[in-house]
Amino acid sequence: MASINGRTALVTGATGGLAKAIATALAREGATVVVVGRTEARAKEAVRNIRAAVPDAILEPLACDLSNQASILSAAEEFLSRHDELHVLVNAAGVFRKERHVTADGLELTFATNVMGYFLLTNLLLDALKRGASRDQGHPSRIVNIASKYSGGPSVTKIDFDDLQTAEGSYSYLRSTPPTMLGRVLLTQEFAERLRGSNVVVNAVHPGLVKNTGLLQDVGGPFRWVTNTFGKTAEKAADTAVWLATSPEAAAVTGKLWAKRKELPTPGMGSDTDARKRLWEECMRLSKIL
Ligand SMILES: NC(=O)c1ccc[n+]([C@@H]2O[C@H](COP(=O)([O-])OP(=O)(O)OC[C@H]3O[C@@H](n4cnc5c(N)ncnc54)[C@H](OP(=O)(O)O)[C@@H]3O)[C@@H](O)[C@H]2O)c1
Repeated sequence: MASINGRTALVTGATGGLAKAIATALAREGATVVVVGRTEARAKEAVRNIRAAVPDAILEPLACDLSNQASILSAAEEFLSRHDELHVLVNAAGVFRKERHVTADGLELTFATNVMGYFLLTNLLLDALKRGASRDQGHPSRIVNIASKYSGGPSVTKIDFDDLQTAEGSYSYLRSTPPTMLGRVLLTQEFAERLRGSNVVVNAVHPGLVKNTGLLQDVGGPFRWVTNTFGKTAEKAADTAVWLATSPEAAAVTGKLWAKRKELPTPGMGSDTDARKRLWEECMRLSKIL
């Protein structure tokens, strides 16, 4: 694994589960890790937890509610006031909710967090990623997006553009959440296309089932039981994301979906160029801050 000593990584969702394991691994490798939590208190708590595992870690808390566009803008500004460059961005924050919720921006919460949060934060940090890459052509800056490859019919491998916010009557967690994971893959492809030639690479990860994280607490039931019984630990599941963020072998690849350090074919709409362009345009339309 390459050293990322002296380089800066920002990890969303780092207060728990998979992202905390990723942030811990990057801190162990010597990166300065900006630990994002939905509030300052949550981010500081995560810093304390990671430091307990890696006493000499260089960590900075950053508050950002990724379901709230004003909060994303102010977090990006806060980051840019402290750092000129970013080298690794890991988008891992995500939700899985039993009931439908609407955010302050009027968006359905799962879509707002899992798709818009990642789209907006990444766009706001793109120049810092490009600056980080231009200083050293041998080291691209890297964006790693935690997603998921659901297998099954169109209900989990297709985005319904006519019901992007899964309206009240149509909402269920199985209808709302899988398309957001596909959305992350599509936007990964679109970011990769737009970033060609910039020395910033962007890839998505299918972590598989990850046990004992906070994700399925709200949903509970058999889905959570299966995940906690058959899933891998967060530390093990973090491997491919950390590899994409740091290894020389992964430095030249972009726009792909990965699991166990191997490229995966993308399901359903994952090969649909029009869908990824349309999703980008929808996100731009719903943005109040770009
Ligand atoms: N677990 C799995 O089997 C699995 C499988 C495939 C993909 N994934 C994906 O992996 C990622 C990590 O999930 P996980 O399983 O590790 O679950 P987790 O423990 O619940 O981690 C999710 C993280 O996202 C944060 N988050 C949620 N909403 C946020 C918001 N509005 N603003 C800021 N932070 C927010 C949570 O913060 P709080 O603690 O403050 O809520 C938490 O730290 C997610 O994107 C998930 O979709 C997980």
